[in-house]
Amino acid sequence: MEPIAPLVASDHSAVCALLRDAGLPSTDVQAPAMPDFLGVRTHGGLVAAIGLERYDGAGLLRSLVVAPGQRGLGLASRLVDALERRAKADGLPRLVLLTESARSFFEHRGYAVVAREQVPAEVLRSEQFRELCPASAACLSKIL
Ligand SMILES: CC(C)(COP(=O)(O)OP(=O)(O)OC[C@H]1O[C@@H](n2cnc3c(N)ncnc32)[C@H](O)[C@@H]1OP(=O)(O)O)[C@@H](O)C(=O)NCCC(=O)NCCS
Repeated sequence: MEPIAPLVASDHSAVCALLRDAGLPSTDVQAPAMPDFLGVRTHGGLVAAIGLERYDGAGLLRSLVVAPGQRGLGLASRLVDALERRAKADGLPRLVLLTESARSFFEHRGYAVVAREQVPAEVLRSEQFRELCPASAACLSKIL
């Protein structure tokens, strides 16, 4: 089983390519933020990633992506578990996310739909909430 590892600045272009290919926002992903991402590498390169943005009162889970040829193997589930452990260790009380494409994936992992008014103000000011994710995206949250 390939290990999950924090990403480094040189992973930036590979993360953005995975996100773009999956139709997810990548324009706000910066190379210096790579240590806030976790990923899975095979001999062929980076095949999965997930990111955490830390805010007052909550973490924003973002950019969960698995390369098409690697889906259905449990990689996303392992990445979500690892990110939750990391966020909890950092003292974040809950995670928040926006999704258009994977709502039931997260609901099966203990996340519940919440109104945006219930989301901490600092998270609402993130680029994901302000600009990049359409209003139609579902907002989900999980207490850690
Ligand atoms: C969603 C995604 C990350 C899942 O990755 P994965 O490694 O295949 O997921 P896992 O193997 O850990 O989990 C598979 C389970 O999730 C379910 N699942 C997979 N993709 C799903 C989706 N888009 N919506 C709902 N459920 C999904 C599978 O049916 C399977 O269910 P089971 O455990 O009951 O059998 C992957 O399909 C992907 O990268 N999609 C494109 C990008 C995307 O939508 N990201 C989410 C943005 S918030």
